Amino acid sequence: MIVLGCDHAGYPLKVEITKYLTEKGVNFIDVGCDGESCDYPIIAKKLCNKITDGTCSTGLLFCGTGVGMSICANKIKGIRACVCSDYFSAKLTRMHNDANVLCLGARVIGTGTAIELVDIFLNTEFEKGGRHQRRVDLISTLED
Ligand code: RB5
Repeated sequence: MIVLGCDHAGYPLKVEITKYLTEKGVNFIDVGCDGESCDYPIIAKKLCNKITDGTCSTGLLFCGTGVGMSICANKIKGIRACVCSDYFSAKLTRMHNDANVLCLGARVIGTGTAIELVDIFLNTEFEKGGRHQRRVDLISTLED
């Protein structure tokens, strides 16, 4: 299960992505907002809780730049969030970092790029074992 969340700046892009996921038959839940002005740290925490409590495996966060959401999400234990606007980073953050949250900037990228980034992020597997697993485990030690 995927979880989506946004602030007011990210809302228009979240709407486009929810349409896309619905067309594709991808199941998701949405923790808000619904377009009203709100504070992105609150939404980031709500979304990350859905991942850390096991309800969802992957999150998509939208704000103006994607940066505020990624700063917040990365403060939460068990979350590896990446703000992306290029395809290579979206692919590699799954393969090497086992990122579980993708942050997108609605004021930075267009809908077409965002759809492509979401597709790549959702369909790329982590390269299990070996050096990448060791490094992801080391990331976890930084949380303590
Ligand atoms: C909201 O105006 C804006 O600051 C927010 O969406 C985000 O871009 C922060 O990083």
